[in-house]
Amino acid sequence: MRYLIAMTGSSGAVYGVRLLRALKGERMLIMSRTAKGVIEHELDLKPEQVAVFAETCYEDEDLFAPPSSGSFLYDAMVVIPCSESTLGKIANGIADTLITRAAAVCLKEGRRLVLVPRETPVSAVMLENELKLARLGVTIVPANPGFYSRPESVEDLVDFVVGKVLDQLGQGHDLFRRWGR
Ligand SMILES: Cc1cc2nc3c(=O)[nH]c(=O)nc-3n(C[C@H](O)[C@H](O)[C@H](O)COP(=O)(O)O)c2cc1C
Repeated sequence: MRYLIAMTGSSGAVYGVRLLRALKGERMLIMSRTAKGVIEHELDLKPEQVAVFAETCYEDEDLFAPPSSGSFLYDAMVVIPCSESTLGKIANGIADTLITRAAAVCLKEGRRLVLVPRETPVSAVMLENELKLARLGVTIVPANPGFYSRPESVEDLVDFVVGKVLDQLGQGHDLFRRWGR
């Protein structure tokens, strides 16, 4: 399986890094300019240190890169974390970066698209954008960990959210304890 993972400038860079590390298959990565800053701020990592978890890394400014085209095939795209700015662009057909263009391609090609927004509180604009995308078949996985799995650490909370993303991709995992198990 081939996956396109995009990290944007929302808080929660740790979710993107954890997904890259847990995901089985070929990983292609795009980090927005703000994502690179957030990665340094929140994780004390250079973007190059995150890029090593992917087989291929594209620049968000490079609209000539393969993910710009519908003829470039992969199984699913995940935007994690997804800023409300990027989510709003995707919901409104704005494709002026590689991330937003690739997401627009997913929509037009009917390809699996999973967004992991992290914002609180959320405005009506944000809710309307999310609703619009959900109705178009996009999967919205808010970065909201559950507590029924009895998390004991920050890592457990992160793993809960990332495990929910893996569930959406159909990948088995043991990142959190399932209800009833
Ligand atoms: C440290 C930091 C944290 C941020 N956290 C969030 C956030 O949690 N959610 C969000 O929607 N935007 C957040 N932003 C704002 C986005 O970075 C901003 O809207 C930016 O334009 C997003 O661009 P991008 O989607 O191309 O990465 C944050 C910005 C900074 C600098």
